[in-house]
Amino acid sequence: MHDGSGRIVVQNLSKRFGAVNAVQDLSFTVEPGSVTGFLGPNGAGKTTTLRMLLGLVTPTSGVATINGRPHSQLGNPARVVGSVLENEGFHPGRTARNHLRVYAAAIGVPDRRADEVLGLVGLGSAADRKAGGFSLGMRQRLALATALLGDPQVLVLDEPTNGLDPEGILWLRNFLRSYAREQRRTVLVSSHLLNEVEQLIDQVVIISQGVTRYYGPLEQLRRGQQSRVLVQPADPAALVKALQEQGVQQVSPTPDGRVAVAGSSVQQIGDVAAKAGIAVYGMQEEHADLERMFFQLTQGQYAGGQAGYPPPQYQGPPPGYPPQQFPPSGPQQQQQYPPSGPQQQQYWGGPQR
Ligand SMILES: Nc1ncnc2c1ncn2[C@@H]1O[C@H](COP(=O)(O)OP(=O)(O)OP(=O)(O)O)[C@@H](O)[C@H]1O
Ligand SMILES: [Mg+2]
Repeated sequence: MHDGSGRIVVQNLSKRFGAVNAVQDLSFTVEPGSVTGFLGPNGAGKTTTLRMLLGLVTPTSGVATINGRPHSQLGNPARVVGSVLENEGFHPGRTARNHLRVYAAAIGVPDRRADEVLGLVGLGSAADRKAGGFSLGMRQRLALATALLGDPQVLVLDEPTNGLDPEGILWLRNFLRSYAREQRRTVLVSSHLLNEVEQLIDQVVIISQGVTRYYGPLEQLRRGQQSRVLVQPADPAALVKALQEQGVQQVSPTPDGRVAVAGSSVQQIGDVAAKAGIAVYGMQEEHADLERMFFQLTQGQYAGGQAGYPPPQYQGPPPGYPPQQFPPSGPQQQQQYPPSGPQQQQYWGGPQR
């Protein structure tokens, strides 16, 4: 039998479809009590990975387990894992309640559970409406209700925010968070848009071309974000020199005549400029946002086809964001952030923009 841990383990998982390496040596662990985002651009291998986890696709190599077992060995899997994958169909002429009752019977839960889960996903008032007339967002909710029928310990949702309006996303976030945190369940949600799930997730696994680019708490990725100050001085070269003389190393002139400084505050820079007698006409603080980092971590997805690894355009992670060491054997090996050191200079240095 399974170990009841609620843990998802993906280890050295690969899937090849003919010439396409959809997933390559992917490893990560998802623990109960938090919501994990599984992120990557279109075609990155998210759905393929989730399908392998759910026993719908046979891996070329590697393993994916839930509660220590492959899906096929879970006994009554609907009691352990509920899932919503892409393009789930409903019988259009069936009411939401009847749809759920059919599934409830199939997994051996009582009929009344249909109304319970409709209430949970906010579709109670639409129980007698035909699913064929549902909006995309309502269909997402009905699919989630179906996944919840067996009161599963683990929830796996593929792009659950698709079709949801902002209110729906907020609702989903609150629902999944309390499902994961208060009830100590495991929730894994995929998305190709970081900003759609950013508010929803605690941990993140970022993949591109079937390969892991980052794996760890979202908070650490956030803390790894850097800021810089753009200074507009009367004499850029003199300011660079003055700052360097004061030990500020992460300094570089920009093509538009300004000076980019990382690792120093506006006040520190202002003091150095004043002491050196350099007039400053303006200073602007800039933050590297999470979205840009996601883009940098996953860029190159379409640049060179699927065959090569590392992808031709992949120059390693963006400076300051080293990749996770694999394979992980538990949560203690999650990546440690924030990064620091000389790489930061590279990140902001030079005429990159
Ligand atoms: N059954 C299949 N036969 C052949 N190729 C496939 C099959 N399923 C997936 N692929 C290929 O595997 C790669 C990964 O596809 P996958 O659907 O897993 O990506 P995804 O990350 O879910 O993308 P999206 O964000 O668009 O949903 C793609 O190149 C896709 O064309
Ligand atoms: Mg997909």
